[in-house]
Amino acid sequence: MSDATPLRAFTPFQLGPVRLPNRLVKCGTNEGLSRGGLVTDALIDWHREMAAGGVGMTTLAYCSVSADGRTFRHQLWMHDAAMPGLARFADAIHAEGARAAIQLGHAGWFATPGVIGGAPIGPSRTFSPRGVCFSRAASAADLDRLERDFADAARRVVEAGFDGVEIHLGHGYLLAQFLCPYNNKRRDEYGGSIENRARFPRRVLRAVREAVAGRAAVWAKLNMEDGFAGGMTLAEGVDVARWIEADGSVDALQLTGGHTTRSPFFLMRGDLPLAGMIENEKSAVGRLGMRVFAKMLIRPYPFSEAFFRESALRLRAALRLPLMLLGGVNRLDTIEQALAEGFDLVAMGRALIRDPDLPLRMQRGELTASRCNHCNECVVEMERTGTRCVLRASAPPA
Ligand SMILES: Cc1cc2nc3c(=O)[nH]c(=O)nc-3n(C[C@H](O)[C@H](O)[C@H](O)COP(=O)(O)O)c2cc1C
Ligand code: SF4
Repeated sequence: MSDATPLRAFTPFQLGPVRLPNRLVKCGTNEGLSRGGLVTDALIDWHREMAAGGVGMTTLAYCSVSADGRTFRHQLWMHDAAMPGLARFADAIHAEGARAAIQLGHAGWFATPGVIGGAPIGPSRTFSPRGVCFSRAASAADLDRLERDFADAARRVVEAGFDGVEIHLGHGYLLAQFLCPYNNKRRDEYGGSIENRARFPRRVLRAVREAVAGRAAVWAKLNMEDGFAGGMTLAEGVDVARWIEADGSVDALQLTGGHTTRSPFFLMRGDLPLAGMIENEKSAVGRLGMRVFAKMLIRPYPFSEAFFRESALRLRAALRLPLMLLGGVNRLDTIEQALAEGFDLVAMGRALIRDPDLPLRMQRGELTASRCNHCNECVVEMERTGTRCVLRASAPPA
């Protein structure tokens, strides 16, 4: 890229009520640093490094809106004791000149029974291989309560000082389970046609919008497709995005795909870190099961740069809403191309875990791409020391 070419990546963007200093967003990647369900100093430092490295906004990953939406014992969830840490987090990010966002979600059917103290709740009664149990189908009263939990959590994070609220409508989490025919077998107005399956997620987004009341930006991390036969298709994903746009409930969409239990590497394309995944299994039975079945059950998806670009362009053509391109963005020329193609923001995960100062170094002309090799070992580290790039400690200073 010549010196004469102004980089769009480093121009500001108005996202709803929030002005972002540039177009680069650190997407939510579970940090594995929320001991006791709280924001820790280590978690703040992890994101402070991202903010100091030049992203316009960094996203604190998965905060469960209620106790029964958790998948890990040490996972952030919305309760009174979490509030002071959330406020410290937002202050620390602001002090670096970046914006603070948080992902709010609920794991629904694959919440962990041993952590939540009972059977998980989902759109339907479905066997969860992760929980080794059946989920309970949500009643009308459950849906009212879950909608309130999302809205209350959104209101509270804004009170804590966050600039952006991301609602998880992807990766097979509760709201994406409603969209997904594999999880949603309901026969009421929340199941069947895609219009019905989208009804509850749309209710939640409207409730969140109302609770936030223009004090922060709101967007959905939305699956465009689930990535397996029997999941939501791309054509359905386009319809869902159109309805959300028509509802006026969000300022943007962050576009993703895949399903945590059925197609986990559809969303994090690259190597399968099987040895580490087997070691991380808590029980001997789990480790044996993984050794025997993992290769059969977990389909690999080779990495390619900006692997969701083609599908995301379908949504770009169908919508006027601001869109964030996500998935395998590694290079400065990819970022510039995405912005030229009409995406408003570019979100990155592994590229920034590898090189947290990537934005600054791209702007200074020192790096044109992240040095991430998509080995996915950071996913294994998440459950050990906390999410970190295994190449960083040994990487020579570049
Ligand atoms: C270590 C790790 C943890 C992740 N945790 C989350 C998460 O908590 N919530 C989420 O929506 N996506 C999560 N993801 C997926 C990323 O947000 C992103 O969708 C995916 O990695 C593709 O983007 P990338 O190619 O830029 O990494 C995680 C990814 C990684 C590598
Ligand atoms: S461990 Fe490092 S190199 Fe491997 S995928 Fe994660 S960030 Fe990239």
